[in-house]
Parts: sequence; C-alpha cells; structure tokens
Amino acid sequence: MNFSYVNPTKIQFGQGQIASIKDLITQSSKVLVMYGGGSIKKNGVYQQLSDALSGHQWIEFSGVEPNPTAEQLEQAVIMCKTEDIDFIVAVGGGSVIDGAKYVAAAACYEGDGWDILIGQHAIQKAIPLGAILTLPATGSESNSGAVITKASTKDKLPFMHPLVQPKFAVMDPDVMKTLPERQLINGLVDAWVHVCEQYLTTAAGNMVQDGYAETLLKNLLALGKDYANRDNDQWRANLMWTANQALNGLIGAGAAQDWATHMIGHELTALYHVDHARSLAIVQPSLLRNQAANKAQKLKQMGMNVFGLADSETLVADTINAIEAFYVSLNVPVQLTEHTNAKSEAIEDIIKQLEKHGMVALGESQAITLDVTRAILEEAVA
Ligand code: NZQ
Ligand code: ZN
Repeated sequence: MNFSYVNPTKIQFGQGQIASIKDLITQSSKVLVMYGGGSIKKNGVYQQLSDALSGHQWIEFSGVEPNPTAEQLEQAVIMCKTEDIDFIVAVGGGSVIDGAKYVAAAACYEGDGWDILIGQHAIQKAIPLGAILTLPATGSESNSGAVITKASTKDKLPFMHPLVQPKFAVMDPDVMKTLPERQLINGLVDAWVHVCEQYLTTAAGNMVQDGYAETLLKNLLALGKDYANRDNDQWRANLMWTANQALNGLIGAGAAQDWATHMIGHELTALYHVDHARSLAIVQPSLLRNQAANKAQKLKQMGMNVFGLADSETLVADTINAIEAFYVSLNVPVQLTEHTNAKSEAIEDIIKQLEKHGMVALGESQAITLDVTRAILEEAVA
C-alpha cells in the first residue's frame, strides 16, 4: 500500500526531562496545564512542572476523569476561550492527553465540541499542545487520536486530526514509580492490543512493519514474564518506549488495520465502566477465534515469531490460546462480568450502541457485521 508518514512529536525521553519543557514552549505563551485526579501532586511531577514553568504565565485545569467526558471538558474549553490560552500542557495518561486534544480543538470552534466526534465539524484550527506522560499505554502522547465520552448518552467515540498531535512528549520513566499495579498492567495490555490491531490483519509481506511489530510484541511478552522485576529503571524505560512505539503510526503505515476489538471494547467501557485495556482483553480472544480463518496467516506468523511455537495443524488456535494465556498470567479477565443484567440483554445493549455509532462493518475487511459481533459477544460476555 502507498503511504505518507510523518511523526512530528518531539520526544524528550529519560529521567529529569520534565525540566526541558521550559525551552519547548514559547516564553510569551499563556499556558493551560491540564491534569487528572491528583496523582501528579503525589509523585513530584507537579513540582517539576511548576519549576519548569516558573518563567511562564500559566493556569491549571484539574480533575480530568479517566475516560474523559465532553461534559467535563467543556469547562476547560470555556477557560481557554476566556483566558486566551495559546498553549496546553497535558500531564497524565491517555485520558488527560486525549482530553487536552479535545479541548485544543473545541476551543477554536464556536459550536458544540461534540460535533467533532460525530463528524459535524472538520477541525480547522487547534491550540498547540504538549504532553508529559505519566502512564505508558495509549500512545496518545505522540499520535493524533483521542477518544472522548458523552456521559449523557454513553457514547465513547474516537477522532483523529494532525492539528491535535502533541508538539512534544516528555517520557520520564521515573513517573511510573507511583502507578498502581492495575494501571501498569493495563498499559502492557493496551500496548499489546495496539500492535495486534495493526499486525494481525492481512499478510502483505511488509517486512519492516511486521518485523518491528514482532519486536514490540516480544518486548511486551518479556516484560510481562519479568513482571516480578518491574521496580527497575530498565523495565520501566522499556515499557514506556515500547508502548509509545506501538501506536505512533509507524507499524500501521502501509498496513491493513483492524481496530474492531477497540471499537467493541469502547462500548464496554461506556456501558459498564470497564477499564479500556481490560475491555480489549475481554473482546480480543473471542474476536480472534471468530476471525481465525481470515487472520490465519498472520496468526501463524505471530505464533512462530513471537511465541516461538512450532508450525502445526493447530498453530492458529495455539496462538490465540497463547494470547489469552498472556492476559490470564497478568490476572486480566477475558470475559465481561461487569454487566448487571442478563447476558442476552447485555449483548443487545452493546449491539444497539454499535449500531448507533455506525460500527456495523468492522475489521480490516469489514467482515465484522453486527451479527458477527453478536457471535463474538456470546463468547466474551459471561
Ligand atoms: O487522574 P490521576 O490522578 O492522574 O490518576 C490516573 C487515573 O486514575 C492514574 N495515573 C496515571 N498516571 C499515574 C497514575 N497514578 C499514579 N501514578 C501515575 N504516574 O491512572 C488512572 C488511569 O489513567 P488514564 O489516563 O485513564 O489511563 P490510560 O492511559 O490507560 O488512558 C485510557 C484512555 O485512553 C483512551 C481510552 O479509550 C481511555 O479513554 N485511548 C486513547 C488512545 C489514543 N489517544 O491513541 C488509544 C487507546 O486505544 C485508547 O482508546
Ligand atoms: Zn487501546
């Protein structure tokens, strides 16, 4: 496939790099710092940030929730408009960075920001932003995507635009020291599925993309196996860089992409508040079993090159079992138990949302229709 590729985000990797933002933001800029529920106040990130911005004029917007909502972000949009903000610094995980992307674009639009998510507004302008990453998982720190929820209707939708791609991303692995176990594991799983979404598709002989995807998968597998040694600079640095590379556009360039697991997973999060990564571990094994015939060639390749399995008649199934076993080894559930109604009702609720969102032909070959999704959910929902 032809492709055009650029990743313009400047990466500042390593210990102590938060200080470098001082020189990355124009002195005359009026800055809005956005962050989440306060973890950055406990791990020294807020202090490092305050020191770095001591010569800048800045204000803050705190309390961005996991799975950020348009309703809450609207307050930050108003702040940008009334305070004439001309640079945003997002300090957090995917939720804060995605939230900042939404605010950056919505603040340059007179209408309702949600129009961006439903294709009613094409972004023309956005406030420039930079990211200080505190949770390696989504890759949002150096990509152009964001996922925003409308709480009132339980719609969780993605948008992408080059104007919201961060100008810089600070990745200091030390900030991971305060991450709860659950979030650390979520990061591993999310990054893993990001690679799968771009790799477990049609075989096209893309030696660079396939080879690099396999390296990233092997890294994540190794970090998972070495989980007992996670309190280690090298372990942290490797996870942070691997998760970034998993969704910075490189392995997806010129490759067929799937993303069905993500689109179905987003509905589980919106309806049942399942953590993003956990929604993926619930959907993906069942989806791969359902789509095994379409994905056979790449599943075999993954089995041999990532898991070191021997070629055999059962290789496709063995690979999917190995993926599932990886999640189980990290204590990540592979079935949805969060729903409170009957299984059949839960499945229909998910299907209704997918239909409403136009997610009716998902996957690299649009083979995942609503009926196919229903069959996948029969296995994925407890
Ligand atoms: O809010 P605070 O107090 O900071 O706590 C957060 C939050 O509760 C905490 N945390 C983050 N860094 C920490 C920390 N706690 C202690 N120490 C630290 N260093 O972790 C919790 C979860 O944070 P969140 O940002 O929600 O997690 P994640 O990075 O997994 O982001 C998930 C969101 O990203 C979207 C998901 O849909 C979800 O909304 N995604 C964005 C993508 C993108 N932009 O490319 C792609 C992904 O597939 C994904 O869909
Ligand atoms: Zn993801």
